[in-house]
Amino acid sequence: AARSTTVTVKADAPGARIDRRIFSQFAEHLGTGIYGGIWVGANSRIPNTRGYRNDVVAALRNLKVPVVRWPGGCFADEYHWREGIGPRNQRPTKVNTHWGGVTEPNSFGTHEFMDFAELIGAEAYVSGNVGNGTPQEMAEWVEYMTAPAGSLADLRAKNGRKQPWKLPFFGLGNELWGCGGNMTAEYAADLTRRYGTFVKAPQGTKIEKIASGANSVDYNWTEVMMREAGKTVDGIGVHYYTVPGTWEKKGPATNFSEEDYARTISKTLLMDELVRKHSAIMDKYDPAKRVNLAVDEWGTWYDVEPGTNPGFLYQQNTMRDAIVAALNINIFTHYADRVRMTNIAQMVNVLQAMILTDGPRMVLTPTYHVFEMYKGFQDATALPVEVASPWYNKEQFTVPAVSATAARDSTGAILIALVNVDPNQPASVSVDLGSATASVAEGRVLAGANIGAHNSFDAPTQVQPAPFTGAQIAGNRLSATLPAGSVVVLKLR
Ligand code: AHR
Repeated sequence: AARSTTVTVKADAPGARIDRRIFSQFAEHLGTGIYGGIWVGANSRIPNTRGYRNDVVAALRNLKVPVVRWPGGCFADEYHWREGIGPRNQRPTKVNTHWGGVTEPNSFGTHEFMDFAELIGAEAYVSGNVGNGTPQEMAEWVEYMTAPAGSLADLRAKNGRKQPWKLPFFGLGNELWGCGGNMTAEYAADLTRRYGTFVKAPQGTKIEKIASGANSVDYNWTEVMMREAGKTVDGIGVHYYTVPGTWEKKGPATNFSEEDYARTISKTLLMDELVRKHSAIMDKYDPAKRVNLAVDEWGTWYDVEPGTNPGFLYQQNTMRDAIVAALNINIFTHYADRVRMTNIAQMVNVLQAMILTDGPRMVLTPTYHVFEMYKGFQDATALPVEVASPWYNKEQFTVPAVSATAARDSTGAILIALVNVDPNQPASVSVDLGSATASVAEGRVLAGANIGAHNSFDAPTQVQPAPFTGAQIAGNRLSATLPAGSVVVLKLR
């Protein structure tokens, strides 16, 4: 029998705008995330446009990806942009020392990335090299990308791009506490000020500078960065990965137990506390909330698929991942006044990916479908919700069974997203819309045969959104029965 949950939507107390950039992506030079997954080169037999896979580009366009972060990740702090410009057959090659020890051909460089972002309709978030690059190299990269005139602009034109690109976001290094240079927070804050000083936007344009943020619960990092460098940046990152087991033995992406599932959900919900506590520190230094808390890496991290290069971080993606994605998005929308960008790791073939490819074949993951179903929330206005949910419990893990978020879109329609975490029981949800009323509730549901259901190259449609028929609406009361282990997104008119 369905257990009941009550959701109260404060339709007359609208909150912040849900920045569409909360739904952004991350693409690093890692495994087949770029080479093979996005870029196959113009001579490939895989159908492509100027070297970009047509199937992947079409799927990403459909997702309305707001921002792509590139080229890393750890790769960013040893990337030298000059190696990735000019004729492709003359670019230097080198070993990708972070990821798999493979040869980095440098055929995907600044022009290829910027062209790709334009092709899928996304904004660029480029991460600079603070780790082993100089402030001069960084400043010249920004000049190369954005200057209207001068010799670097001429060089850009010679390489095929006359018009400056837009560069709305620039990262001042990545994980400076780790692969970006193993720095203390104090040293990283000093370098953030120094490097950031030379990142200059041409007149009439704006480049938001994002500081390298904390490793999950390292609140001291945010404290020091905000205190010492907060006034010089527009955003500060934070990274948190959902690892069901330990870093040494993370657990499999498929064929997991219900206990693994419950542990995954309970670990992913730490995101709520992280965002709340990092935000509270930022409030001390920036009560006006000018500085964005950019969760610029998040997602599930499992053991790699058996037989794949351990440095490629290639993993399958199940209904469990769909539920993790929806729970995190619900958290981000609740803190939309401070969290104005997040970048799930990563877009194609790496960690919690939207898309998996195998040679010419492509499959959309359950996580892709969640991002697609939530598109209506991009730039909508958050409506506060209160959820009184029963618990879902397995072994020592106890979490709320139902999670919800709500918003009003630009047409005035109310959007509601509901997640039933419980893999064994449907959830009966009663939503009180307060002062708002509606007569039609339409939307879709994502559920699989079970929480381990996934899409493979041989069976690519095991998990797909379907029209949702379990909702009734009368006046200001919506009732819905959510299948076990599902995500439902509804539009009320
Ligand atoms: O996303 C994979 C890696 O995780 C990134 O390169 C790094 O920033 C993080 O540790």
